[in-house]
Amino acid sequence: MFRTNTCGELRLADAGKTVTLSGWVQRVRKMGGMTFVDLRDRYGITQLVFNDEVNAELCAQANKLGREDVIQIVGRVNERESKNKHLDTGDIEIIVDVLNVLNTSLTPPFTIEDNSDGGDDLRMKYRYLDLRRNCVRKNMELRHQMTMEVRRYLDSKGFLEIETPMLIGSTPEGARDFVVPSRMNPGQFYALPQSPQTLKQLLMVAGMDRYFQIVKCFRDEDLRADRQPEFTQIDCEMSFVEQEDVISLFEGMAKHLFKTIRGVELTEDFPRMPWSEAMRLYGSDKPDTRFGMEFVELMDVLKGTGEFGVFNDATYIGGICAEGCASYTRKQLDQLTDFVKRSQIGAKGLVYARVQDDGTVKSSVDKFYTQDVLQNLKSAMNAKEGDLILIMSGDDTMRTRKQLCELRLEMGNQLGLRDKNKFSLLWIVDFPMFEWSEEEGRLMAMHHPFTHPKDEDIPLLDTNPAAVRADAYDMVCNGVEVGGGSIRIHDPELQDKMFRILGFTHEKAQEQFGFLMNAFKYGAPPHGGLAYGLDRWVSLFAGLDSIRDCIAFPKNNSGRDVMLDAPSNIDQKQLDELNLVINIKE
Ligand code: AMO
Repeated sequence: MFRTNTCGELRLADAGKTVTLSGWVQRVRKMGGMTFVDLRDRYGITQLVFNDEVNAELCAQANKLGREDVIQIVGRVNERESKNKHLDTGDIEIIVDVLNVLNTSLTPPFTIEDNSDGGDDLRMKYRYLDLRRNCVRKNMELRHQMTMEVRRYLDSKGFLEIETPMLIGSTPEGARDFVVPSRMNPGQFYALPQSPQTLKQLLMVAGMDRYFQIVKCFRDEDLRADRQPEFTQIDCEMSFVEQEDVISLFEGMAKHLFKTIRGVELTEDFPRMPWSEAMRLYGSDKPDTRFGMEFVELMDVLKGTGEFGVFNDATYIGGICAEGCASYTRKQLDQLTDFVKRSQIGAKGLVYARVQDDGTVKSSVDKFYTQDVLQNLKSAMNAKEGDLILIMSGDDTMRTRKQLCELRLEMGNQLGLRDKNKFSLLWIVDFPMFEWSEEEGRLMAMHHPFTHPKDEDIPLLDTNPAAVRADAYDMVCNGVEVGGGSIRIHDPELQDKMFRILGFTHEKAQEQFGFLMNAFKYGAPPHGGLAYGLDRWVSLFAGLDSIRDCIAFPKNNSGRDVMLDAPSNIDQKQLDELNLVINIKE
């Protein structure tokens, strides 16, 4: 038997017991004739004691132990003289009688501590060592607890967990596919699922009624802190439901997670905000509502009321009011201007106005506006003495709002308004059905092509498709889209029309989605669903800055697994079998 107890288990009540423990050597300390070893496993750390006077040979053996050696000991649980309040096992220590070295370790390339000295790349290369760190392991434990609670909740609501294949055809979630060549079908490729969207709809046609799956999805898209090329969805679909049914069930799941994992009881319904409102007030379909600082549109106040050409030419002027920030120095304001001019944001500039202690307004465009106009600005912004008004303008409303959104989030960061222990949840509803793609020069489905338009907007499909709203909904928490879904089209004719608007020929739609269209001819129930991003939920609950930290083996920003060194070249033999020729263009 390797162990009688774990390293996190023993307490004062166990004093006097003889125990066997196994684990990793966290640390060896020599103090006079005594040697102390911290022994670590997943469950905690226990202090081992070796006494030179009692057993010199054993103590000499302990002195030779190196960090991360794997050992087994037999010893007696003893009450500690100086207790360690920071350790669960801090009241006891083990007086060791037998020491077995089960395996030695090279010196690890970084310290296995919460505050490791290892940089990101190094820790990812040796991720199996990184995972030994308490703070990283905790994220894995949290992830496990959350998936267990998800399963418990969905099982209690009658959902069946059904696996769907990974080797499928292309799925329409809007990103690039990862593809897999087929040896048995020369020249042909599978695509890895961007989501099991079409398959779960087929499961509804199959009468499964309530499906879920905790499933890997693959999207070849540019990576960000909350995006990985392979990530996990809690994917669900339900039959005979309307938007309200889906929202209420999955709001229930979010509440269940908050209660069981965070001990927070959320009793109120989550607010719902139409997409257009979210864009107007926050310039984002995933607004961080932990703080206010909502946009105020200033066209009436600043366009044509002074000589400032930039505003006079603008199609959108919007401002935010940063409370108490009139004291911002010139340097701070210059830094904010640099921030909005950065290439990722791409604004031309930033106008500011300070409300001074005497109530007058002092702004960077003073020379163009009278104090009366600036007072109008102050009241439109609902600003008071000591506040700072930040204004952006542009000739593309959506783009300018997005830029102002970045500024608002930056101000939220600077003012400490984005507390990771505070959670603000809401549903964004009434998404537009389509969005215009400059790249493709056509309308694209904002959600996906199977999303049902709002019944009252169906007539607009023929006259003004851009104005059609969808039965689609996203759940947002702290500025992160944690989930999204929709009611689906189950009428083959409406689906056909949708494909036409999206620019698919009948043949192309048939080629890509014929299997689904055909299935719909055999009695498709009205259905809808949603997918939560598991990685995003876990990282929110854990207070992480990136979803990478809650994924056991994540990819880096270039989509590489630096530990496995993947992607990598494959042998010529393998290429030949797959009938592939590599032809890299410069
Ligand atoms: P959607 O594309 O909105 O919907 O994805 C659902 C949720 O998955 C998460 N997510 C991601 N997480 C990490 N890395 C990524 N690259 C990534 N992309 C998405 C987000 C998102 O809200 N089939 C539909 C769902 C449906 O309609 O039922 C779908 O995939 O949290």
